[in-house]
Amino acid sequence: MQECRHVAIIMDGNGRWAKAKGLPRTAGHKAGADNVRTIAIAANDLGVKYLTLYAFSTENWKRSKDEVGYLMKLPAYLFGRYMKEFLQRGYRIRMLGELDVLPPATEKVLRDAEEESKNNTGLSLNICMNYGSQREITLAANAYAKDVAEGKAKLGIDEAGFEQYLMTKDFPPVDLLIRTSGEERISNYLLWQIAYAELEFIPEAWPDFTPDVMKRCIEEYHHRNRRFGGLTNE
Ligand code: FPP
Repeated sequence: MQECRHVAIIMDGNGRWAKAKGLPRTAGHKAGADNVRTIAIAANDLGVKYLTLYAFSTENWKRSKDEVGYLMKLPAYLFGRYMKEFLQRGYRIRMLGELDVLPPATEKVLRDAEEESKNNTGLSLNICMNYGSQREITLAANAYAKDVAEGKAKLGIDEAGFEQYLMTKDFPPVDLLIRTSGEERISNYLLWQIAYAELEFIPEAWPDFTPDVMKRCIEEYHHRNRRFGGLTNE
């Protein structure tokens, strides 16, 4: 059976979930943060080794000041409440995105989570904060050009060489990308890394994405015939 090592999720629909319940959007984000713990455990139980979650995109700054402020406080809520458990379970927390422009307190919480868990070898729980794929690729191109200019790299690198400049250099390619809440877009997420990923767009909002739904998504993945451009997956 083809492995499902790396799952990436666009956690969409928090706002609509809250609105449908007559709650403020922030209540949806909070329920979404709690669900990160639930789904990390479910993913790990299902054999996933890398779980990469889109928490805040480079485009999310366009939201209201209040909502951005709330989203910036969520890492402190998530890790304050669950970090001990993540460590006990052996999860390694890693960040993708430009953290240095986040509010200093947010940046610290994120870097501390990385630092505290850096020796763990279990599930790699990767949180994308202030992440955008076009930005990631642009930064990689600049870093490579700089290395060439300084004589540290040669012209003409191949794909594997270029990957070393991406924020995901330590991760395998994405096997399965899931987007919750009905939208069928990629929204500047892991454009390089999903080159051969299976895509699943599902109706449930992120706070309603239960372990059973996760299981269903992985089962669907196992029914797909991944050919990677060839004729069979044998
Ligand atoms: C998209 O739903 C969701 C976000 C922009 C935020 C995602 C954040 C979480 C799920 C919390 C996790 C937090 C951490 C720190 C890991 P939306 O607000 O766009 O929903 P809508 O489309 O219904 O308005």
